[in-house]
Amino acid sequence: MTPTWITICDTCKRDDWAAKGVERTDGQALSELVEAAARGTALRVRRTSCLMGCDHSCNVAVQAAGKLNYTLGRFEPTGEAAQGIVDWAVLHSESETGQVPYRTWPVAVKGHFVTRHPPLPEGE
Ligand code: FES
Repeated sequence: MTPTWITICDTCKRDDWAAKGVERTDGQALSELVEAAARGTALRVRRTSCLMGCDHSCNVAVQAAGKLNYTLGRFEPTGEAAQGIVDWAVLHSESETGQVPYRTWPVAVKGHFVTRHPPLPEGE
């Protein structure tokens, strides 16, 4: 089975970021939480700088070759959000198509889906 990857934008800053007066971006904070939550799973996790969804930070992508791929946004860098992202990504990895039945979605990801990309055709 091809692995499911979570790609976290580590340069995301939410609207209240400047007012918090911290150096670490919200994306870095969420990255650390997602990396910790994914430990011990078969998921792969990586960071990137900007997924071009800056206006609805924090953003992550969930992808696997040959499956539906998704971007999710509007996350706060909280443990609950990180756990929801990881739990949903595990369901994505277990799904043959990448589609996850809505009734099984963790509450923390509901309302956070931004885009869905069909897999590229193979052998064309
Ligand atoms: S900085 Fe995160 S999407 Fe642009």
